[in-house]
Amino acid sequence: MTYGMIATWRMAYEGVIHQSEHLADGSSAGDVLEGVIKEVEEFANFISVGYGGLPNEDGTVQLDAAFMDGTTFETGAVAGLENIKNPISVARKLSKERFNSFLIAEGAKKFAVKNGFEQEDLLTEKSKEKWEEKKKKIELKEMTPYDGHDTIGMVVLDKANHMAAGTSSSGLFMKKNGRVGDSPLPGSGFYVDSDIGGAAATGLGEDLMKGMLSYETVRKMEEGLSPEDAAQRTLEEFEKKLERKYGKVGAMSLVCMNNKGEWGIATNVEFTFVIATKTQKPTIYISNRSEDGQLIIEKPTKEWMKDYQGNLNNRIE
Ligand code: GLY
Repeated sequence: MTYGMIATWRMAYEGVIHQSEHLADGSSAGDVLEGVIKEVEEFANFISVGYGGLPNEDGTVQLDAAFMDGTTFETGAVAGLENIKNPISVARKLSKERFNSFLIAEGAKKFAVKNGFEQEDLLTEKSKEKWEEKKKKIELKEMTPYDGHDTIGMVVLDKANHMAAGTSSSGLFMKKNGRVGDSPLPGSGFYVDSDIGGAAATGLGEDLMKGMLSYETVRKMEEGLSPEDAAQRTLEEFEKKLERKYGKVGAMSLVCMNNKGEWGIATNVEFTFVIATKTQKPTIYISNRSEDGQLIIEKPTKEWMKDYQGNLNNRIE
């Protein structure tokens, strides 16, 4: 009766702390996953997910999210959803639909409203200011658009051996109206099979979706690779292929967990993630790749944590 969860980025930490108690008490993987992601979506200072997410080039917040149940394969997703704070809950609701389980834009909003989700303005004053600043800089050619795409992606294993995976993201800052990233795409942004394990991705969606990295990571675990090897080989093999075929490789990170609660990650940038298992209390790690290509995973320093908190607080000053 082991259990555990792994989530992308430091922003998941508080949600993981709160939900790890429920996971230990026997809550389902789906409920725990939705609980963590909702908490991230609702915190305005996290500017790449949900409420307060950075807008597209027109100044509109458009959200992508997905939910997958690794036991039943029920999968739901939304893309370009506007004015709904918890796209993960809409995606989970959609996962119960036999047909029409992946909805976009107005159609996704219509489904959400019909199912009792409230409509609200998701653009905070701070995100609007950042949008205005960035627009000016782009006009002055001091900056290119398209940085900032920290998706919350996670995998949960519960005590009953059921697994769930999910994602939520406001996508690339200054994206074109209607642009969809990897996050809501099964196999690309997330994938889970309770008989094996699950994976989720974060990074540049346009590159991630070329490699179906979440599915590939799970497939490698099915072949017998440890989560650690599965994630790292998936990313390394794909980076080489992408470099050869496309000539450009964006930021990409993966988290995964198998159905024994063992976990792994891979990244080609500085990347934080959060783990909680039966034997490990919620822990933040910071990872990076050394110059000779080795994956380094360590606990963040006190200074790093202080800077992080400072940046977070600045967002609401
Ligand atoms: N990985 C999130 C996105 O590219 O939209």
